[in-house]
Amino acid sequence: MEFIQANANWLYLVGAILFILTLRGLSGPKTAIQGNRYGMVAMAIAVVTTFFVANHPVFWMIGGAMVLGAIVGIARARTVPMTQMPETVALMHSLVGLAAVLIAIAAILHNNQLTALFTQNEAALTAAGIQHTHMSKVHLFELFVGCFVGAITFTASVFAYGKLAAKKWAKTISGAWVKPVQALVFIAMLACGVYFFTTGNMQAFWAMTALALVLGWVWIAPVGGGDMPVVVSLLNSFSGWAAAGIGFTLENNMLIVAGSLVGSSGAILSYIMCKAMNRSIINVLFGGAMGGTAAPTAASGDKVQRNHRSGSADDAGFLMSNADSVVIVPGYGMAQGRAQNAVKELAHILKEQGVTVRFAIHPVAGRMPGHMNVLLAEADVAYEDILEMDEINSDFPATDVVLVIGANDVVNPAAKDDPTSPIYGMPILEAHRARTIMVIKRSMATGYAGLDNDLFYNDKTMMIFGDAKKVVEDMTKAINGSSH
Ligand code: TAP
Repeated sequence: MEFIQANANWLYLVGAILFILTLRGLSGPKTAIQGNRYGMVAMAIAVVTTFFVANHPVFWMIGGAMVLGAIVGIARARTVPMTQMPETVALMHSLVGLAAVLIAIAAILHNNQLTALFTQNEAALTAAGIQHTHMSKVHLFELFVGCFVGAITFTASVFAYGKLAAKKWAKTISGAWVKPVQALVFIAMLACGVYFFTTGNMQAFWAMTALALVLGWVWIAPVGGGDMPVVVSLLNSFSGWAAAGIGFTLENNMLIVAGSLVGSSGAILSYIMCKAMNRSIINVLFGGAMGGTAAPTAASGDKVQRNHRSGSADDAGFLMSNADSVVIVPGYGMAQGRAQNAVKELAHILKEQGVTVRFAIHPVAGRMPGHMNVLLAEADVAYEDILEMDEINSDFPATDVVLVIGANDVVNPAAKDDPTSPIYGMPILEAHRARTIMVIKRSMATGYAGLDNDLFYNDKTMMIFGDAKKVVEDMTKAINGSSH
């Protein structure tokens, strides 16, 4: 115990380095498990060290809360289906926000209590040489920032959770009134915050906190459901900054470093996601509020009847088994149809026939960051067969068959060729450059962006209509049948 107290900052430094190694590990599927292990050790060091350096800790309270938290966390981690990960993450961010608000409130009330005690016994305390130091302006500012960022994060994350879990109470709001209300609440919150900051007035503090809670809700409620993953990643960043702010309040170096790491990595992830979707962060967050365009929706204008070629799973199986190289491009439809195990089986059978099979992953394929990677990892697809967009794009012209499974926007050539397209400029997997293209989907319907896709009408393309899992299983059967 004395060792920990004497070396707390060294231990925090070790924890901080391990947190950095965690982030490094999490940047690739092969190293992710090791990254998680670093994170667990770092968190254990942080918690144990803080436990022993805390001022008069109430052991049963802290221990009880930790045990309770661990039980809930383990139960949730064991039972949460992969499809409910985004809303679970949103819910966890809400807790970080709430913790920041509660700590700020506790710190202020504690300080007020000390001031009152000192004032009551001023003569005696001064005679005994005890001075009461008032909260510095810097301290007040940290509290102010930690508290309002935490409050916004809390209600915004609860809304994001409700939206992603399709709860009735998390309704998207729209209308001309939204923008002025957002602006009004924001200005009122700032005004109360500044008043509190300059005078220390507690009414202003409570009003600022309440307004920040309202702001979190009215700010996120107009954001469309499809943009929620970007919002969740941004809230992740916010929760980090709130934690860092509170780290200053509690004078805890570990919390400052860990909070900053979460804050900056969340901001970088939000930027990467927006770039891969060709959206600006301002557009995602204020699309419904600042007059910007929200996520692109169905192309307007007259629908021109265009011809496409369709084929059967048997034809496709035959073609693929005779190819040298096949690249599989999974998209949201693979997740929706829960086809990942069937896809793994297809890849396996093709490999047995001597075909080189690889997977091409777009950064925003599916509906959450790493969606395809997670599904393929679940199905035990070898990491070395999974390639990111930048690694595989130059290989498409030399690829015999590209098999697109439930992907649409991420292979839409309009993003490269059509300056009038709402997704123009978004980087895509260049499947259209392969020798033969096969697309599995249930109809000619559009994807998330609501746009028609020239790839489906390409002379080299064969559409195979049906549910992803069923079609892939039929392909495997066809290849199996022809090889016996
Ligand atoms: P999408 O463009 O959404 O296309 C998915 C296609 O899958 C649809 O056209 C649909 O066509 C087909 N499909 C759906 N269920 C199917 C099933 N059971 N079997 C077979 N096909 C099925 O998907 P994508 O190419 O993966 O692109 C992702 C889109 O989501 C991008 O626009 C991206 O910007 C957006 N987005 C991504 C994220 C993240 S972080 N990944 C977050 C928010 C938004 P049918 O209905 O005809 O079958």
